[in-house]
Amino acid sequence: MKIAVLPGDGIGTEIVAQAVRVLKALEVPLEMETALVGGAAYEAHGHPLPESTLKLAKEADAILFGAVGDWKYDKLERALRPEQAILGLRKHLGLFANFRPAICYEQLVGASSLKPELIAGLDILIIRELTGDIYFGQPRGRRTAVDGHFPGAEEAFDTMRYSRPEIERIAHVAFQAARKRSKRVTSVDKANVLETFQFWKDVVTEVGQQYPDVELDHMYVDNAAMQLVRAPKKFDVVVTGNMFGDILSDEAAMLTGSIGMLPSASLNSSNQGLYEPSHGSAPDIAGKGIANPLATILSAAMMLRFSLNQEVAAQRIEAAVQKVLQQGLRTGDIYSEGCTRVSTEEMGSAVVKAL
Ligand code: IPM
Ligand code: MG
Repeated sequence: MKIAVLPGDGIGTEIVAQAVRVLKALEVPLEMETALVGGAAYEAHGHPLPESTLKLAKEADAILFGAVGDWKYDKLERALRPEQAILGLRKHLGLFANFRPAICYEQLVGASSLKPELIAGLDILIIRELTGDIYFGQPRGRRTAVDGHFPGAEEAFDTMRYSRPEIERIAHVAFQAARKRSKRVTSVDKANVLETFQFWKDVVTEVGQQYPDVELDHMYVDNAAMQLVRAPKKFDVVVTGNMFGDILSDEAAMLTGSIGMLPSASLNSSNQGLYEPSHGSAPDIAGKGIANPLATILSAAMMLRFSLNQEVAAQRIEAAVQKVLQQGLRTGDIYSEGCTRVSTEEMGSAVVKAL
């Protein structure tokens, strides 16, 4: 089984190094090959997603990804910015199904900004469509307005769109995931205003008829944003488009108090996947050895489960992570009084030891 290891920028290299140590400690035959991506690839090759990196990613069974981005690239033209690497990988590999679990670990209940009783036991799965919507819709750009409130003025525009097959396949992913959980799906839309999301709602409803055992409800995105902080435990599987999913998954992550703990998986139709922590490159703390590697380590567990068919190894990693939390080990982002503060590398070592 071949894994493309793409650490990227900022804390990406530090956290991925720990996940690689954990993978090597398993008795699973894995071939790992590392390549540059994001700002690091731009510096070395003049492009955030060089041909060689894309080729490696396409050939691999799975990709272990760190994070990309740094403020110093904000002035570059869009096509050369680090973020284009992750968007390019999603597009070129057809990684349309993004799984973002938001789980509140018992040991970390106090780390959330919400009251403990609201989030204790929280276990939500956000399924975000990842290759369509306003992120990829054409045309987009800048031009001179011919109509609107200010004809003749400079304007910018993007295109929000979804085709029926795009909605159908992500809906199937959500219903099937729900069957393995509590059999409830909430589809989030903005059907009261947007044509694209009235269509989304109609198609999800149609697909839902094939899953009579799964309960489907619909929620407008503004209400969903509110309900997520009011009564988050009412949700189970949430399925939504690319843009709303981007926003709601960050909100859901913060409910758990620890974005540093949350893994994610992005899959295509042949179960090839990209696995990355839900957090970003955090250039402000890069190089200090204080980043939390657990989201990346848990992403490696998701990789073993979804793309490599190694459920036992996945569970071993998850149990090891529980164990280090139980031991009271904490990186700065999840630290609370009475615990032991550890570095990125010490956390990695503790997980390896727990394995
Ligand atoms: C995410 C990120 C990306 C996105 C950025 C880095 C392009 O915010 O994975 O949620 O908007 O999808
Ligand atoms: Mg995001």
